[in-house]
Amino acid sequence: MNQITPPPKIEIIPSSAPFSEAQRSWLNGFFAGLLSEGATPLSAEQGTAIMQGPAGDADDGEAPWHDQTMPIADRMKLAEGRPLRRRMMAAMAQQDCGQCGYNCHDYSEAIASKAEGRLNLCVPGGKETARMLRALHEELERAPAATPGGAATASAAPAAAPIVELGRSRDNPALATFVSRRLLNKSGSEKETWHIDFDLAGSGLDYAVGDSFGIFARNELGHVDQIIALLGASHTTKVRGRTLREVLTDEVSLAPAPDSLFELISFITGGAQREKARALAQGDDPDGDAATLDVMAALQKFSGVRPHPEAFVEALEPLQPRLYSISSSHNATPGKLSLTVDCVRYVVGKRKRLGLASTFLAERIQPDDEVKVYVQKAHGFGLPQDSKVPIIMIGPGTGVAPFRAFLLERRATGATGRNWLFFGHQRSSCDFFYSDELNAMKTAGLLTRLSLAWSRDGDKKFYVQDRMRELGRELWSWLAEGAHVYVCGDAKRMAKDVERALVDIVAQHGARSTDEAVIFVGELKRKGRYQQDVY
Ligand SMILES: Cc1cc2nc3c(=O)[nH]c(=O)nc-3n(C[C@H](O)[C@H](O)[C@H](O)COP(=O)(O)OP(=O)(O)OC[C@H]3O[C@@H](n4cnc5c(N)ncnc54)[C@H](O)[C@@H]3O)c2cc1C
Ligand SMILES: NC(=O)c1ccc[n+]([C@@H]2O[C@H](COP(=O)([O-])OP(=O)(O)OC[C@H]3O[C@@H](n4cnc5c(N)ncnc54)[C@H](OP(=O)(O)O)[C@@H]3O)[C@@H](O)[C@H]2O)c1
Repeated sequence: MNQITPPPKIEIIPSSAPFSEAQRSWLNGFFAGLLSEGATPLSAEQGTAIMQGPAGDADDGEAPWHDQTMPIADRMKLAEGRPLRRRMMAAMAQQDCGQCGYNCHDYSEAIASKAEGRLNLCVPGGKETARMLRALHEELERAPAATPGGAATASAAPAAAPIVELGRSRDNPALATFVSRRLLNKSGSEKETWHIDFDLAGSGLDYAVGDSFGIFARNELGHVDQIIALLGASHTTKVRGRTLREVLTDEVSLAPAPDSLFELISFITGGAQREKARALAQGDDPDGDAATLDVMAALQKFSGVRPHPEAFVEALEPLQPRLYSISSSHNATPGKLSLTVDCVRYVVGKRKRLGLASTFLAERIQPDDEVKVYVQKAHGFGLPQDSKVPIIMIGPGTGVAPFRAFLLERRATGATGRNWLFFGHQRSSCDFFYSDELNAMKTAGLLTRLSLAWSRDGDKKFYVQDRMRELGRELWSWLAEGAHVYVCGDAKRMAKDVERALVDIVAQHGARSTDEAVIFVGELKRKGRYQQDVY
């Protein structure tokens, strides 16, 4: 068994460069990855210039707020005093989920350089992020233009939109045909998770394992009609050259009521109603119900206020696509694509609320229907190039999706590397997705190890990371032999807990201090040996 030794301490940034210890350590790690052994250390000036970036912003390049579990107020505090583009980044949800078409860093850079004008693309950040970005954007608009030679300036002309191939970006979707759905949970489950199949033949699209699939879902017609009734309008009313019903079905979001809707309501009402609408438009919560106000609830709250359909549609946010990890392999089944989708349904007061895309896939779209889609290329989430490298996949719940794809791909391409899957869910009797397939892969030897964790089978919660800890010695030996580690699923809790477990395993079985184990896991990430696809 090969032992992994702790990475050598590389000093590229000189101690005289004007950085804090943490900044210097981060930079040393960063450049150690870029430079080969024996690299010439940078001068203090070189280090400073790199950190300040092309615009000459006094910015240290670190992103201490890049933590998806941190509340926005804390992220903005950490970014205080930084250049606008960095504060814009701190306003993002820090998931690097790609739903906006960028990662968090690149989306903020695009807004700051005025190449991107849309401030409402951060789906996980929701209204809080959009609100903060609007405020920062106003600051950008007020900022004086930079001197010639500077990069992003307030008066810079928007860059021309790049031409993207059909179906390769949210800005140029293709059409895919829905084939079928099948429920993955058995009776007794508290979950509703669907295996969804699409046919890509008509779209000409292909994909690699690790990629995600963007879906432009449609709102539910019954919900749309209730909103039209609340407006006192007819569904055939013409708006934007289409019927109001069509526009409300596939152009605008009917989920969280945007500030602009409350603003519109405040313009067309008076007295206490007007004050409330104004407060809501400013992000206040006069009645303690702001978080529950979707578009319909907002109209009901201000009942009797009937905005004109044109103004109403203008005040709503455009409908955003949703991303899903692809759970099939194009090499195994060319022209076919599948997803593994957890259905979002919940109740607020007496009204059932539906997650837009998950319920669209679970019940509204019908076989042979076409839907607008795109393939979102994975950035840093994919199988190792060397097919002999062992992989450890940690994917509870729908997090199993890309790993089913990895396994199908490795089988289709005859990859010889060993495969270890950690899967977990609530109950073994009803939540073991793809159990037949996975057990067959295990029997066939493709799946070397299948380790399961059921959180609600016993008296105490038992999660994938508990199973990892139990099998820590063996896990460490796979790591020491060069295994790549992959994590997919919940971003807010699971991903962090799994990483903590990995650090503990490295410390315990790799005979390192916790600090050394943290560095070790950081190195794995930097080398692309620890990859995450979390949402
Ligand atoms: C890269 C990536 C890959 C992904 N892969 C997958 C995947 O493989 N499978 C999968 O199922 N999902 C996946 N997702 C998540 C997916 O994109 C959607 O976010 C998810 O399906 C919900 O979308 P929706 O349109 O159905 O719900 P939405 O209309 O977006 O509603 C969800 C929102 O409803 C609210 N909400 C939900 N539950 C409650 C509650 N109990 N009480 C109050 N409010 C609540 C929350 O505000 C939540 O954000 C992935 C996301 C990303 C970014
Ligand atoms: N924000 C939330 O409160 C919330 C809640 C549920 C789901 N989600 C989201 O819903 C989507 C789909 O969820 P899903 O169907 O894939 O499954 P999931 O709800 O994420 O659950 C999958 C399994 O993970 C367990 N789990 C819960 N917390 C964990 C933790 N800290 N570490 C490891 N495992 C943990 C669950 O156990 P238990 O459920 O028994 O604890 C369950 O057994 C994801 O996007 C997820 O982020 C969010």
